[in-house]
Amino acid sequence: MPNHPQNLTVATTGASGAIFLRHLLLAVERDARVKTVNFIASDAALRVMAEELDIQGRANLVTQILGASIKPSTSKTRTASSHSPQKIQLQSNSDIGANVASGSYSADAMVVIPCSVGTLARIANGIASQLIERAADVTLKEKRPLVLCVRETPLHKIHIRNLYCAADAGATIFPLIPAYYYRPASLDEMAREFAYRVLAHVGLPQPDAFHWKG
Ligand SMILES: Cc1cc2nc3c(=O)[nH]c(=O)nc-3n(C[C@H](O)[C@H](O)[C@H](O)COP(=O)(O)O)c2cc1C
Repeated sequence: MPNHPQNLTVATTGASGAIFLRHLLLAVERDARVKTVNFIASDAALRVMAEELDIQGRANLVTQILGASIKPSTSKTRTASSHSPQKIQLQSNSDIGANVASGSYSADAMVVIPCSVGTLARIANGIASQLIERAADVTLKEKRPLVLCVRETPLHKIHIRNLYCAADAGATIFPLIPAYYYRPASLDEMAREFAYRVLAHVGLPQPDAFHWKG
């Protein structure tokens, strides 16, 4: 992998927390270090995004998720050229022949945000029947970073066993649990900081992220 991942796979599933996905996509769309994002949404994700982000169907899905709030920035990592509409490529979850289904495709890392316990179960048990799970399976077998932002509460033993199995196979379990010590003033601020933590974890630290100074 290059110093910074240039080719990211981002998947979203039917767990609550679509606002976290939105802020992650906004950040990678702005980040000039990221050249390609393959984006996959499960059917259940569409259902949850309809509730939480007022997303209507799959038409112009990326534009709907990003909304109208992409702001150019003067930061080094953010340039107008990074706003190419080609950067985030929507892949169909049913297309197991898509680029990210193969280890020979040079994806650098994968993030599932939010990750349902259903998707977690399939990844943890190698059930790679749809593209999200297949891409995750490939990411693990190629020993590339896989970050699972799992959201469910409470957790029963099967969830906990699946979390263990996925971690044991090399995934990072990055529960969708935001921090509060930076006193987020809004849900957007909370979700943005969480997305920044995920991106820092895969080698894409964001210049305006909060840093605890003790
Ligand atoms: C509004 C809504 C919220 C949901 N929240 C969660 C959740 O937080 N975590 C979870 O694992 N499943 C949640 N579900 C259930 C999943 O969407 C469901 O299990 C689905 O089959 C997951 O499919 P997927 O993993 O293919 O996306 C929610 C469903 C709805 C409609």
